[in-house]
Amino acid sequence: MRQVIVAGNWKMNTNKAEGEALVSGIKEGLGETSAEVLVFPPFPYLGGIVAAAEGSAIQTGSQDLYIEDNGAYTGEVSTAMLKDVGCTHVLVGHSERRHVLGECNKLINTKTRKGLADGLKVVLCVGELIEERQAWQMEAVLDEQMSWGLAGVTADEMASVVIAYEPVWAIGTGLTATPDQAEEAHKYLRGWLESHYSADVAENTRILYGGSVKPDNAAELIGQPNVDGALVGGASLKADSFLGIIAAAG
Ligand code: 13P
Repeated sequence: MRQVIVAGNWKMNTNKAEGEALVSGIKEGLGETSAEVLVFPPFPYLGGIVAAAEGSAIQTGSQDLYIEDNGAYTGEVSTAMLKDVGCTHVLVGHSERRHVLGECNKLINTKTRKGLADGLKVVLCVGELIEERQAWQMEAVLDEQMSWGLAGVTADEMASVVIAYEPVWAIGTGLTATPDQAEEAHKYLRGWLESHYSADVAENTRILYGGSVKPDNAAELIGQPNVDGALVGGASLKADSFLGIIAAAG
């Protein structure tokens, strides 16, 4: 039985006070839940958020990492720095990094392997553009992103990998994939894991859906057999709505 994950990707939002108030609000409202709860705040606030989350089950991850240990890489942040401030997870391959910041599959693969090698859990994001979907290329795009993203990642390491399916056309647009569309993509991804790894890896890997998840659509999406939780953007920025999604996850 895969444990559901509800993760909040804050992107480039909040300030120090807002972020800490947000995580305190989540902590206070959390109660009993069977879900694993994760937040991905901006880099400067990570330490403060880890401190604010202390004593709760909320885990903290970063939105990115760099592939070298240290040195002359102006503006970049290493895995050692992230672990030093208490991060346990990292997002890799988010569509905004692919399509706004220009990250290629090769770099995404290096980041995935670097995170895993240094003991971080990696949430690898994949998803097609609207024109790719309309050209019936969803599976080809997912295959390419999975093949590149996970190249060189062993079956053992897959225990520390979570996949997030985020159709780019559903991110921040209010256009959610229907539960059937999400299930179709997730089923394809699980089949991909089975054919490239094993039935065991496919059975145990969590695959999250992301793209305009809200309290009122979360239960139906997460209720699909192959949807193991949500990666939430906008609705993770208010404690009430994030808690609503966690409650919907069961
Ligand atoms: P929204 O929930 O705002 O659509 O963002 C989804 C996302 O990109 C999470 O990583």
